[in-house]
Amino acid sequence: MKLLEERIKLDGKVLSENVLKVDSFLNHQIDPELMLEIGKEFANKFEGVGITKIVTIESSGIAPAVMTGLQMQVPVIFARKRKSLTLNNDLLTATVHSFTKNDTSEISLSKKYLSENDKVLIIDDFLANGQAAFGLVEMVQQAGAEIAGIGIVIEKSFQQGARLLKEAGLRVESLARVASLSNGEVKFINEKVEELI
Ligand code: G4P
Repeated sequence: MKLLEERIKLDGKVLSENVLKVDSFLNHQIDPELMLEIGKEFANKFEGVGITKIVTIESSGIAPAVMTGLQMQVPVIFARKRKSLTLNNDLLTATVHSFTKNDTSEISLSKKYLSENDKVLIIDDFLANGQAAFGLVEMVQQAGAEIAGIGIVIEKSFQQGARLLKEAGLRVESLARVASLSNGEVKFINEKVEELI
């Protein structure tokens, strides 16, 4: 998605060979107009698939997921990373290990919002090693719902998440695919070049 790539080039900060900071429009301050365009792009990619619910994870997945839900006119459910005071029984849970943060957490969703009749689109802001996405996949499967695919705002293609999800038979649609963060510069995968390979 050209608009997103341009914004990453303009406002993204390369913190290391592995970490891209985009807190001026996605991870802290949020640009609603950009999120709206992101929502439209995901809605286009998954048009006609019969999505009934969107599932994401707090906190940074919520903005792009809500905009996608608005376009598709379906509800958005976000997995919680901390125990909720009001959400305490009939939970779907999964364990997620973050290699980036080196910690393990249990994420949860209420069973009542997903059923075997649902067709789910999973949305998240970043895809690195795929741990969060696999945790969401696991919970959707526990509910017996079908997974139509996974929509990612920024995929770090040099990490293994996208490959692992695709190998698991899942459709992954990433709006920006970062090939490398070397020398302080963001390089994207050029789709035309990739098609020729
Ligand atoms: P994984 O789920 O793909 O395995 O990712 P990983 O454990 O490596 O990432 C843990 C957290 O760090 C996630 O956010 C993820 O979105 C974020 N993250 C991973 N790589 C980057 C990066 O290069 N830049 C930025 N800005 N974030 C990255 P989180 O802890 O769930 O945070 P939030 O959703 O509450 O903001």
